[in-house]
Amino acid sequence: MGEQAKKLFFVASEAQPFFASGGLGDVIGSLPKRIAKNAKEELEVSVILPLYSKLNKAYKNKLVYIGQTNTKLSWRNQYCGIFKYEEAGVKYYFIDNEYYFKRENFYGYFDDAERFAFFSKAAIDVMLFINEIPDIIHAHDWQTGLVPVYLRTTYYNDERFKNVKTIFTIHNIEYQGNYSCDEDIVEDVFGLSMNDAHILEYNGRINIMKGAMESSNYVTTVSPTYAEEILSPEYAHGLQYETNRVKEEGKLRGILNGIDKVFYNPAKDKALFETYDKKSFEKKAVNKEELQDMLGLPVDKNIPMIGMVSRLVAHKGLDYVKTVFEKLLEEKVQIVILGTGDSYYEGFFKDLERKYGNKLRAIIAFNQDLSRKIYASSDLFLMPSKSEPCGLSQMIASRYGAIPLVRETGGLKDSIINFEKNTGNGYTFKGTNAWDMYDVIKKTLDDYQNEELWKKQVTKVMNKDFGWSTSAKEYIKMYEEILEK
Ligand code: GLC
Repeated sequence: MGEQAKKLFFVASEAQPFFASGGLGDVIGSLPKRIAKNAKEELEVSVILPLYSKLNKAYKNKLVYIGQTNTKLSWRNQYCGIFKYEEAGVKYYFIDNEYYFKRENFYGYFDDAERFAFFSKAAIDVMLFINEIPDIIHAHDWQTGLVPVYLRTTYYNDERFKNVKTIFTIHNIEYQGNYSCDEDIVEDVFGLSMNDAHILEYNGRINIMKGAMESSNYVTTVSPTYAEEILSPEYAHGLQYETNRVKEEGKLRGILNGIDKVFYNPAKDKALFETYDKKSFEKKAVNKEELQDMLGLPVDKNIPMIGMVSRLVAHKGLDYVKTVFEKLLEEKVQIVILGTGDSYYEGFFKDLERKYGNKLRAIIAFNQDLSRKIYASSDLFLMPSKSEPCGLSQMIASRYGAIPLVRETGGLKDSIINFEKNTGNGYTFKGTNAWDMYDVIKKTLDDYQNEELWKKQVTKVMNKDFGWSTSAKEYIKMYEEILEK
């Protein structure tokens, strides 16, 4: 890369440790810092985020107000306050607008299209306000998909943005920002001309993710296998024509996520009852007993514990779970589930808990502290997703010595290799038959009785490095490549 550091701007709708609702928040919380560290001389890294009222209390007084501008969205002219915070070589800019972001949740409102159109447009206004035009903009998921679209339309003839390169990362193709054409969303909400509507049009609807894919120089997703899978109708949620198009243009990549090994570290984790590392993982048993006690389960370190930390939605493979769990609960086993989601699955697990009170606990919540207690206490971590763009829980579980059992799809397939192979670091199953999963779980329960084998396996699992080092290099290579274009 050239002599002077190039400016890289991430734009995303959530980031740890400020606010997060899932894996995207983890990635935006850790990847920019890692890029800043690994490419100090070449890249100057900034991140633009919405300022939700749900900001983590610890940061409330740390953000510095640096000014305000106005963001135009069709006939609207909206306040855009800008706050700044710097850490680990990364500059974070927060866009303040209480009308859009002072709400109970991050997403799920009738005006999400308008909220995130505002955010995407305001992100560009922030760049202008601070007078830093990026060399690369890296946008994530549909909420920021209009950033590359605005650059190709509204700012097309703007000299300042002439050389900006754009990358759009799909964290989950299921959520596309897909709207009916009837509501005049293109002109009235996004403030775009109908002449540009074709960029966003897809199957007779307005699709922000499609617009982002069409407008960006590169499209990436969060694992190599998922990058293949989304070419097929089975995984593409309707976007297969667009995914195949960007693939043919040579614009599609898959780069596996990593986890923040400093944050997820059983040797230092304050959430645990007792900390441990690779050499002292027998202390997982202490964590198990404490958790059993806390949850009112029979306290016995010899009962194998299966953990699940998951959004309770269909693509997490919960129908397989539904099919086999009652049979599984005949075994000597304890199961702990943490998550929120569809009331259908929440209800199912709550019913099971009522029926199998001394074997199963279902905690319907999003609770990071408790999630790490579950990773630390579990012997086995179950993640049978039907589709999984990357998945981070299997990596976190490994770091905490809970052996992952996964379905071979997406990032799960790329990160967990069956123990049958030399390089194995977990249990896996293929296909869509719940009883195949059941057979593998049964096998793990047998293996658990073989103490030597189990210890050997836990050691393998904990030795696997799921940090960002390899993937950060791949991102930096892609940034270098794009700058040369
Ligand atoms: C989404 C995906 C998940 C991925 C995460 C971070 O939440 O569903 O598989 O790990 O984004 O990229």
